[in-house]
Amino acid sequence: MSHRVKISPSILSADFARLGEEVRAISEAGADYIHIDVMDGHFVPNITIGPDVVKALKPYSDRPFDVHLMIAPVDPYVDAFADAGADIITFHPEAGAHMHRTIQMIKARGLKAGLSLNPATPINILDAVLEDLDLILVMSVNPGFGGQSFIESQLKKIEEIRKRIDEIGKDIELEVDGGVNFDIAPRVIAAGATVLVAGTATFKGGPTAYGKNISTLRGQS
Ligand code: DX5
Ligand code: ZN
Repeated sequence: MSHRVKISPSILSADFARLGEEVRAISEAGADYIHIDVMDGHFVPNITIGPDVVKALKPYSDRPFDVHLMIAPVDPYVDAFADAGADIITFHPEAGAHMHRTIQMIKARGLKAGLSLNPATPINILDAVLEDLDLILVMSVNPGFGGQSFIESQLKKIEEIRKRIDEIGKDIELEVDGGVNFDIAPRVIAAGATVLVAGTATFKGGPTAYGKNISTLRGQS
C-alpha cells in the first residue's frame, strides 16, 4: 500500500509580511495541504495567528487548510476556525477535558477532525476515539516553535499507530510534524506516515526553491 505522500508546508516558516503570496507560492509549487499553526501563548509558549488571518488567506489557495490548534480551550474556537475556512482541525487531547465532544463538534461542522499527540503523549489515548478520527498528527518536536530537531523516538510511535490504523482498515491520515527535513522524510514515510508537515524544509531558499523542496520531501527529486 504505497500511495503518494502528501506535503503540508507549515506557514510558520513563511515570510509573515507577505503571507498571502507565500501561501499562493507553495500551492503553485505543489503543496497538498496548507498547515497553519495556531498558538495561544498558554497551551504553548508562543503566539501566532488567529481565525481572521486564516480567513484572509483562504482566497490565496484552493488546497485544504490543515489547521493545527495549539490552544486551550479548543471548543469555543471551533466555529470561528470553521467559518474562517479550515478544512481539517487538529487539536491536542491535553487542551481540554472532553476530547470526544471536541471531535464531534469539529465533525458537526463538516470538517475533518485530527488529534495531535505530543512526544510524551502515549498511543493509548487513541483507544476510545480512533474510529472517529480522520487524521492523527504525531508531533516529532515539542510544539511551540519551528526549526527544532526531530525526536527519534517518535519513529516507533509512527510505526505503532500505522499498525493500529491498518488493523481497523479506516482511511485515517497519519501526519508527522516537526523537524522533518530531506534526510528524515524517507524514514518517516517508511514508518507509515501519509502526510508530512515541513516548515523550515519547505521555505528554505525562497519561492524559487519551493517546488524542488516539496518534491524532494515527497521523495521525487
Ligand atoms: C511546531 C509546529 C510545526 C512546526 C514545523 O509547534 O506544529 O508545524 O512549525 O516546523 P519545522 O518543519 O521547521 O520543524
Ligand atoms: Zn503544526
